[in-house]
Amino acid sequence: MTVSVRPMFRLLPLAALALTLGLVATANAADPIEQREQDFKAAKRSVEQIKAGLGDNKPAMVAAAAQSLSDLGARIPSLFPPGSNQGKTDAKAEIWTNFADFTAKAKTFQERADTLAQLASAPGADRARLADAFDKMMASCKACHRAYKED
Ligand code: HEC
Repeated sequence: MTVSVRPMFRLLPLAALALTLGLVATANAADPIEQREQDFKAAKRSVEQIKAGLGDNKPAMVAAAAQSLSDLGARIPSLFPPGSNQGKTDAKAEIWTNFADFTAKAKTFQERADTLAQLASAPGADRARLADAFDKMMASCKACHRAYKED
């Protein structure tokens, strides 16, 4: 018994630190509904940037915005923790009964955003191909909304 007391005391500051970090993490995560609202609003801005980049023939702008959409795609499932359909949200309950399909739709979106980012970063990016990749990506936004978002 006495042997374990000392190491325990040494661990106390660590436990306190972990607790503090935990609290900070909780504060940052805010409400998942608010978090995804912010993230999807940012997605909308990225889409505007891509349109502007395509219009002005600025592939680097397209690539950057598509990359941030790809990053969002990877995070989408984690933005929908179980039970986060209570409150001011347009998320349909089917998300959580069909979570594998929801995740697959997020993955498709991520892959298409990635394809766009890659095409746009390649030297001499072809505008028509970029526009086509953009349309395909947008179709994957819509496919998910149609199934899982109230309009
Ligand atoms: C895998 C599914 C999925 C994909 C892919 C997806 N969304 Fe969404 N989106 C949702 C869901 C579900 C909601 C509703 C979230 C809520 O209200 O809690 C939403 C909400 C939104 C909102 C409303 C945010 C607000 O103000 O509350 C916008 C804007 C949006 N998405 C844009 C996009 C765009 C643009 C894309 C593609 C570039 C995209 N989404 C891709 C599932 C998806």
